[in-house]
Amino acid sequence: MNRRRFLQTSSLAGAALAFGARPAWSATADAHVEVLLDESIGRIAPEIYGQFTEQLGGVIYDGVWVGEDSSIPNIHGIRKQIVDRMRQIHVPVVRWPGGCFADSYDWRDGVGARKDRPTRTNFWADDPDAARLKGNAVQAYETNAFGTDEFMRFCHLSGAEPYLASNLRSLPALEFSRWVEYCNSPAGSTTLAKQRATNGSAAPYDVKYWGVGNESWGCGGNFEPEEYAEEFRRFTTWVPHYGVPLSFVGSGPNDNNLEWTNGFFEALRRKNYMPRELHGWSVHYYTWNLSMGATNDWVAGKRDALDFDEAGWYELFLQGLYMEEIVRAQWGLLGEFDPSRNIKLVVDEYGAWYKPGTQLDPTHLLGQQVTLRDALLTAMTLDIFNRHAEKVGMAACAQLANCLNSLFFTHEDKFITTPVFHVFDMYAAHQGAQSLRANFSSPQVHYLRNGKPATLAGLLGSASMRGKIVTLTATNPDLKQSKLTEIALRGSARIASAEASVLTDTDMHAHNTFAQPDAVQLKKLAVDVQGDRLHVTIPPASVSRITVQLA
Ligand code: AHR
Repeated sequence: MNRRRFLQTSSLAGAALAFGARPAWSATADAHVEVLLDESIGRIAPEIYGQFTEQLGGVIYDGVWVGEDSSIPNIHGIRKQIVDRMRQIHVPVVRWPGGCFADSYDWRDGVGARKDRPTRTNFWADDPDAARLKGNAVQAYETNAFGTDEFMRFCHLSGAEPYLASNLRSLPALEFSRWVEYCNSPAGSTTLAKQRATNGSAAPYDVKYWGVGNESWGCGGNFEPEEYAEEFRRFTTWVPHYGVPLSFVGSGPNDNNLEWTNGFFEALRRKNYMPRELHGWSVHYYTWNLSMGATNDWVAGKRDALDFDEAGWYELFLQGLYMEEIVRAQWGLLGEFDPSRNIKLVVDEYGAWYKPGTQLDPTHLLGQQVTLRDALLTAMTLDIFNRHAEKVGMAACAQLANCLNSLFFTHEDKFITTPVFHVFDMYAAHQGAQSLRANFSSPQVHYLRNGKPATLAGLLGSASMRGKIVTLTATNPDLKQSKLTEIALRGSARIASAEASVLTDTDMHAHNTFAQPDAVQLKKLAVDVQGDRLHVTIPPASVSRITVQLA
């Protein structure tokens, strides 16, 4: 082994280690991970592993919804393969119908007999990407074939909670209350409950999670934070509960915009209005600017999903890891307004966003291929959420199928899973477990960023414990170096056994296609147990999960 400079990349960067003497590490290991079994950060909300489905491009039409008359295997029109795979990874919550679409959507258009539902212009019809659409494509002219009842069935079949995003820009507050009434009023109690019964569900849907607008600083109304606060008060005052513990999610900042957060909560404070149902503050952060500092232009800053070099590989992670700073900063500011910490962060849109051109079908607006690089970015993001389990209450990957950072690609009867799906499969073990403090140390990775040296942590991850099972997940972004990693569990427990799996490939561009659906898939990884230590060789460009059974 070469002499290397080791850098402490603690899960609490810069923080002093929260324990006394360090264990003696083996001199031959390239990286070390110390898991502190007695230091819980908090319970990892299963909802952190949520998904996002917008009425956009191929997400719903061609993705989730194939129609009841389709020859594609379906359950009441919903693609069966998606439902089965969502169950496999225990998707806890699904957000719908947007995104930007939500603030143009009238929920009444999507209920009742399908043949009577109106066709409307979809929010995305004028997106530059929509120029590819031909004729009366449903992606441009929304038929409303998939509405509230279909979405509820989709959630029910998938085992997920629904999270509805309401229209704050173009519908009055009364319609928000009425949507809640349609979904939640008891069987037979109201006209809308009777309508719901006619539409297939006498029993209420008991929807708990309600987004109050989406991106209200942008497509959701171009509001100032104070204006949004006024609308928020109007929308959320005296919404009927019907015995359901409603959980409202406020439309939070893009990126790390602290002025938006501050302006909104200051305005609520001035009115002494802080509803107990306000449990979430949304954050949207996409990793899109891969220009390495050359521009901040939304179009010019984007790069290709498939065509990238080594610097492009590392740059995605450098940009994506900014999520940790956002979580810390937004949480810090929230604390000034909500000292009792009733309000958690809800990162309900995240993932890589590339320039158009790699979509699997022209109707898949904002569609892009998903490579091993995106799997590492997603894993790093989920590890951040795990490490900040006391701060992040819910999240949603954007978006489930045929879009940005997708888990599934479908077209007509074809269906495949992507490397991002495999990450959610591996990481499902963290859901509901106690997040543990863990310290990762390894040599940094170096690359040239527009001719200037840049560095990244050499190994990142998170750990959790449920009963006698410890789960450790780790990403090795290094394209060349495998890392012989020594893992020590600090605490009184003994290791009974361990196993590991890994997602990797020798080609950083590796991805699945309809022709090669399993080009990237999970493999077993050897783990060696010696006393209270584990040794595992973590390959370059990989995501790993190590599962430890305690005695
Ligand atoms: O996920 C695509 C779009 O990105 C969403 O509709 C919007 O909320 C965000 O800007």
